[in-house]
Amino acid sequence: MIGDYTPDELALIRRAIAPAPPKPPEEVIEAMRPAPGMPVPSHMPPFWKLSDLAMPLFLRLSADPAVKAISRYAFFPQVYQRLLAGQSLPQLEFSGRARGMVGILRYDDLAIVIKPLQSSREGQIARTAGELTVGPGQLESLPGYLTEEFSPGTFFTELPQELLTDDFLAGVGSTVGTMLRRLHQADIYYNDVTFSDPRGRSHLLVEENGSCRLIDFGISMMLDRHPDLDLEEVHNFVRTLPMYRVFRGMAEDQAHVDRFLAEYAEKLAATSKSEIISRDLTFAQQGLNMAARRMGERIIAPVQEGFTQAYTALG
Ligand SMILES: Nc1ncnc2c1ncn2[C@@H]1O[C@H](COP(=O)(O)OP(=O)(O)OP(=O)(O)O)[C@@H](O)[C@H]1O
Ligand SMILES: [Mg+2]
Repeated sequence: MIGDYTPDELALIRRAIAPAPPKPPEEVIEAMRPAPGMPVPSHMPPFWKLSDLAMPLFLRLSADPAVKAISRYAFFPQVYQRLLAGQSLPQLEFSGRARGMVGILRYDDLAIVIKPLQSSREGQIARTAGELTVGPGQLESLPGYLTEEFSPGTFFTELPQELLTDDFLAGVGSTVGTMLRRLHQADIYYNDVTFSDPRGRSHLLVEENGSCRLIDFGISMMLDRHPDLDLEEVHNFVRTLPMYRVFRGMAEDQAHVDRFLAEYAEKLAATSKSEIISRDLTFAQQGLNMAARRMGERIIAPVQEGFTQAYTALG
């Protein structure tokens, strides 16, 4: 039972699961099978570090109904506190590709998202974006993970035609313009798809009343230290350049990639912040054009108008 772990045991469990450990070695996987040839219980691999240090605790976990149902998520503060308070288990579903497992946990009255950090400054960026009401509000989490509010709404590219009046579209454009401006004023370069990528995937959730949130700050950059950028930040910048994909395909080895990044770091240091940030505007325009292929060319003008007005109005 969740309430049965002592504070020391809880701390031990949390240290074992967060940040997420590397994949367990083969012999540990074998030892997790209830009997030879039987499958490994899927709720247990996240706790594998304990099988080494604290076998009795590991065995208690494997029989805990909450752990059986939602595995490591039971020990994240937002979930753990609710379980202790006697609330029933949330429904758990998974999403996400680039960053690995994105867990969506649904209660009757709220939903939260728990996802691994994708960069070392994502936590700080997501927190600022949440405070600016541009991104999902951030909640207490464990090291190596974000815990955030689930943003309701429909991805921009999936909005039903009947909602797409000129007024509605201009409103969305204006909201996105305001959101990007606020990020930029906070020295955050979003650096990702807003309206749509070539496959129609979006990071912009829109509600019927027109309110919007951007999700996923995994490759965003905080430019407060510019022109000093570390290689991770340079990598985040270049990975959204089409030429980088070509280069990665041809690169001889990691050293070759690192040399390229070091050279690119110099280029970025010599580029002004406003020039870096302006790429978000290019992405927004390109994304809008891609969205229009699915949604109809007539969406472009009203969104663009709303966007430009709002972005420039915030000066
Ligand atoms: N805060 C949130 N509110 C609502 N949905 C979310 C939230 N965070 C993530 N999701 C959902 O989970 C999916 C994956 O999240 P995210 O974009 O952060 O990870 P990813 O690995 O980059 O995934 P993808 O490659 O699908 O973009 C999103 O496309 C969205 O459907
Ligand atoms: Mg994403």
